Amino acid sequence: MLLLGPPGQAAAASADTTAEITADTAADTASVEALLRCCLRELPGWDDGPHRMLRLGGVPVRARVRGLALRFDGRPEALLDGGWEPLTSDRLASLAQAALFGDNAEFAAQVAGSRATIAEILAARRNVAPPADPWLASEQALVAGHPCHPSPKSRAVPLAYAPETHARFPLRLLAVRAGLVAEEGDVSALDRIAAAPEGYVLLPAHPYQVELLAPDFGADLVDLGPAPADVVPTSSVRTVYDPLIDKCLKFSLNVRITNCVRKNAWYELSGAVELSSRLGPVFADLAARFPGTAWLPEPGYRSVRLGTRLLEGLGVLIRCSPWGRCAPGVTPILAGALATGFTPLGDPVAWWRAYVERVALPVLDAYARHGVVLEPHLQNVLIGLDADGSPVQAVFRDMEGTKLIAGRHDLPPGRVSEAMTYDAERGWDRVVYCLFVNHLAEIAATLGGEERLWPVAREVIAEAAETHGWPLDDLLTRPTLPAKANLSVRWARLADRAAGYVPVRNPLLPC
Ligand SMILES: Nc1ncnc2c1ncn2[C@@H]1O[C@H](COP(=O)(O)OP(=O)(O)OP(=O)(O)O)[C@@H](O)[C@H]1O
Ligand SMILES: [Mg+2]
Repeated sequence: MLLLGPPGQAAAASADTTAEITADTAADTASVEALLRCCLRELPGWDDGPHRMLRLGGVPVRARVRGLALRFDGRPEALLDGGWEPLTSDRLASLAQAALFGDNAEFAAQVAGSRATIAEILAARRNVAPPADPWLASEQALVAGHPCHPSPKSRAVPLAYAPETHARFPLRLLAVRAGLVAEEGDVSALDRIAAAPEGYVLLPAHPYQVELLAPDFGADLVDLGPAPADVVPTSSVRTVYDPLIDKCLKFSLNVRITNCVRKNAWYELSGAVELSSRLGPVFADLAARFPGTAWLPEPGYRSVRLGTRLLEGLGVLIRCSPWGRCAPGVTPILAGALATGFTPLGDPVAWWRAYVERVALPVLDAYARHGVVLEPHLQNVLIGLDADGSPVQAVFRDMEGTKLIAGRHDLPPGRVSEAMTYDAERGWDRVVYCLFVNHLAEIAATLGGEERLWPVAREVIAEAAETHGWPLDDLLTRPTLPAKANLSVRWARLADRAAGYVPVRNPLLPC
């Protein structure tokens, strides 16, 4: 019924060398495609017959692409020495570099590093079985990563901690003198992991973050060694699932993954807990209006008051696990994993209608009625599938990306409120990009037959807009939607929050 399997995963060849070549080839294909999608979105191009064309540093590049998600038919090519040659990711990186203004000495190495990581992941996956828990298996299925980022897997984290290689590892347990603990909300789950010595409080840490920060530890932090049981890393790498306490734990990792160094700022730790208490009534209302809506609250965090570097670097957020938030018989699956490949039972159009109803309607109502900006990209939404594989729930997560619209909420002034707030326009761009361009476009491309699917999405959304009084005329009539400019932001080495948008065709327009 459900076929989870990213491109290249079928690279299980009998001879080792063949398998390595296959992994390298699959990794290069994925890397060309991710970078070329960015170029196609962010750089000027034109159509020539069946091809989408670009000129990069004076060299013509051509590709056959389908749909808003830019899925490729065949290998993209460049016109080199008078002939069309298949693009490699090294070649494309240097052509892209020539087409971009300014200078970025890290860019080519990031593209190459990402490709090498994908190849290593593919090779490692030949020898390990995915977790038996289908939700965790889906968290570990994003082999190629973000489909529209120049270097989706460029990251300095050892494979021993990688979700994609089905790693498991024990957390490192630290003990903090009781008077030095920083915490808010309900953190009782952490104390169930192990006992701390008298006068100390337990602070579980990601073992790789401990490696990075250990030189800064003083006598006030006691290292109790590895935890007695393993945790399982989820798709964001830094958030793990701990089966012992049935909670997810979101750590800081002082490592760049896609656009951000993944460090929880102190105001984000506070903000996540504050948002979790404010969103309880909002999600209760959403679930009443849109059955199947669920979310993963982040009820508390703990850290240490030993300077900002350790306060932020060792902060751990507790997040509810999805099984407990889904109805009996419903299996949570990461939306991003569905996008890597699956086939629904029965009529794909009916499946899509149910999917759009579950995912899009609560997101639009959260914005219009409650002034809440969810961040429903493929990695922040779990889909609850019933026994037939039909989408019956949508589970929203990640309070860091969730914001309140300025002026719609009673917030005290200060850094925490500031980081929890977007102005209405910025919030709307974020919602539209995450929901349609990042998420639904990928699901539609995977289902296939997009020309049948988008009119259904339009119908579902237009009907709901009328019923609920959402002001969506602009969304349903504007010629373009905003797509996040990941190439430009990486090239300029800017923070993710500085990322701009480029226009892409609005698939909701009637044909
Ligand atoms: N389609 C996608 N859109 C956005 N991010 C994606 C996508 N596919 C994979 N990813 C990866 O998912 C992560 C998304 O980052 P995000 O900031 O939402 O998560 P996080 O805050 O680090 O962790 P968590 O989601 O556990 O709270 C990044 O590591 C990114 O590379
Ligand atoms: Mg996330």
